[in-house]
Amino acid sequence: IPVDPFDLVIFGGTGDLARRKILPGLYRRFRDGQMPDGARIIGAARSDIDTAKYRQFVESAVLEFVSKKKCDPEVLKAFLGCFSYVTVDALGDMGWSELAKEMRDDVVHAFYFSVGPRLFEPIAERLKSHAIAGPDARIVVEKPFGHDLETARALNATMAQHFEERQIYRIDHYLGKETVQNLMALRFGNMLFEPLWNAQYVDHIQITVAETVGVEGRGAYYDRSGAMRDMVQNHLMQLLCLTAMEPPSKFDPDAVRDEKLKVIRALDPVEPEDLVRGQYLGDDDVAPYTQDAEAEDSRTESFVAMKLHVSNWRWNGTPFYLRTGKRLRARMSEIVVRFKEPPHSIFEEDTGQSANELSIRLQPNEGMDLKVTIKEPGPGGMRLIDVPLDMTFAEALGEEVADVPDAYERLIMDVIRGNQTLFMRGDEVEAAWAWTDPIIEAWQERRDVPHSYDAFSSGPEEALMLLHKDGRRWRELR
Ligand code: BG6
Repeated sequence: IPVDPFDLVIFGGTGDLARRKILPGLYRRFRDGQMPDGARIIGAARSDIDTAKYRQFVESAVLEFVSKKKCDPEVLKAFLGCFSYVTVDALGDMGWSELAKEMRDDVVHAFYFSVGPRLFEPIAERLKSHAIAGPDARIVVEKPFGHDLETARALNATMAQHFEERQIYRIDHYLGKETVQNLMALRFGNMLFEPLWNAQYVDHIQITVAETVGVEGRGAYYDRSGAMRDMVQNHLMQLLCLTAMEPPSKFDPDAVRDEKLKVIRALDPVEPEDLVRGQYLGDDDVAPYTQDAEAEDSRTESFVAMKLHVSNWRWNGTPFYLRTGKRLRARMSEIVVRFKEPPHSIFEEDTGQSANELSIRLQPNEGMDLKVTIKEPGPGGMRLIDVPLDMTFAEALGEEVADVPDAYERLIMDVIRGNQTLFMRGDEVEAAWAWTDPIIEAWQERRDVPHSYDAFSSGPEEALMLLHKDGRRWRELR
């Protein structure tokens, strides 16, 4: 379904995020007919180039990041026709009146702040003083939303001086991932799971976001952040919220975000023994973290695992285990709900019966599977075995249908539609920092040194122990 005509201004339009994600994503929406004829995209950045040059930049981004098969030269040509470029100085006067002239009346206005947070304030101020952004303009901002609670509050306050909360779209791209939304469909569109979705039937929940990449040239940023700020405070927290939240009364932005916020506020502080930090070593082919981050004595974690408790009626007694890290054995993101074993077995003791497990795979091979126990076929008596009921989207729905839009393209289209459901509200971000800050402060106070782990392993031994001591095991990274 096409969205309404729009003018989308991308500040930082020549930057890395624009090149890798925003522009290729917009191309795919255009190709699939979702961008209306009246769509216009205006690149805005400091580089002194003209529209023709910018179109070349957009073209090469599309050719590099959209698969050849999906790139039609005619479609690409038409797509490039949507673009113009204005050189603006975020900290000065240059370009703002030109930008004002580019904006049309009676179309949706969206401004994507694909720039560092220090430019948010000056850009916001100039959008207002040059009367470029009116009361219905939409502002898209990217993480990091602050470095801690204090800076997040300051950032929110700055934005609030210029815009209302209903105008601000804070992107956490994990919320745009197909399977993440499917988690809500699964929980609230079926009768099967929700009655069991609580401490009475769920033994524990595991949330894993494992990557094989290292810090990939982002060392300067990453070394100040670490896995806790880079991944847990936002992406893992969002996955936890959607898994643990109560059913919202409707699929409406504030109803969903109110429920997520309640989860964050119900999190117990984490005990030091329930936290494991790690830092990757190198091998013959890859450098160690300290070299990647160009910080020889760095104590920053590239891995973190933890056990959490959501202290409310539904989850009392069910631990949530979270882990995320770089340079791990496999790229694998999933949420696993492990149910309790049946209270009594009517079968022979040694049948191998075990508990049901629902896993929701974010990547790769998006899909879900449910481990169920059945009788082993054959005449050998009543032996039970576990089999997966597997629903890989590509297999179940066909490659074409399962060729799901990238998180960014879905989220940008939601901005144009004016739907904030998959964006973080300011109070959510602050609550997440309020929970994260004491953990990081405690590490800093005691000058905590992360455990080393081998490149392409499952992380530090201590992370395995975190579950072993509770008689549980992480799912294998594969
Ligand atoms: C980003 C982090 O937000 O998410 C990166 O800053 C991380 O460090 C990335 O690699 C992971 O995203 P995805 O979509 O590749 O899982």
